[in-house]
Amino acid sequence: TFDHQHHQSVVSTRHYRAPEIILDLGWNQSCDVWSLGCVLMEFYLGRTLFPTHDSHEHLAMMEKILGPIPTHLLQQTRYTHTHNCGRLMWDDSNCSDHYNQCEPLKHMLRRAEEEELRHLLDLISLMLEYDVTHRISLQEALWHPFFNARKKFL
Ligand SMILES: *[C@@H]1O[C@H](CO)[C@@H](O)[C@H](O)[C@H]1NC(C)=O
Ligand SMILES: *[C@@H]1O[C@H](CO)[C@@H](O)[C@H](O)[C@H]1NC(C)=O
Repeated sequence: TFDHQHHQSVVSTRHYRAPEIILDLGWNQSCDVWSLGCVLMEFYLGRTLFPTHDSHEHLAMMEKILGPIPTHLLQQTRYTHTHNCGRLMWDDSNCSDHYNQCEPLKHMLRRAEEEELRHLLDLISLMLEYDVTHRISLQEALWHPFFNARKKFL
């Protein structure tokens, strides 16, 4: 899809779908950075980062792993049933096993002993930034220490 072409409201395979698409806030190439972040994490975990088929649970998993979705994004969405005053509505007490298995990225970082793994998780956290205006670009990602450390071998 070129910039000037019609942007369908729903794109991407479910598990790799960026929050701006789920919330119907419009999207551009940055949604691919999110998807790639999910794929990189999948390589590390050996399983899908967001194993769900439900948009609301998907957003709740994002919050569990990445922290709260910024209020200004939730307030822009037309899906008013998903949030209350800019906070995602979600009952933690009645969740799927998949949801319960989602681990906060912060915890993964705390456990990471090797520098390489810390670099990887840091890069992924920049790719999984909710706000597109702050999400890392692919060009910037290539300069991240995770890749930079390898450049000397190329
Ligand atoms: C918990 O989830 C199940 C299955 O989605 C649903 O049938 C049930 O009503 C929920 N219970 C509460 C207390 O929300
Ligand atoms: C996508 O849109 C956001 C918000 O308008 C903008 O900050 C970003 O630079 C755009 N990304 C690309 C790759 O065009």
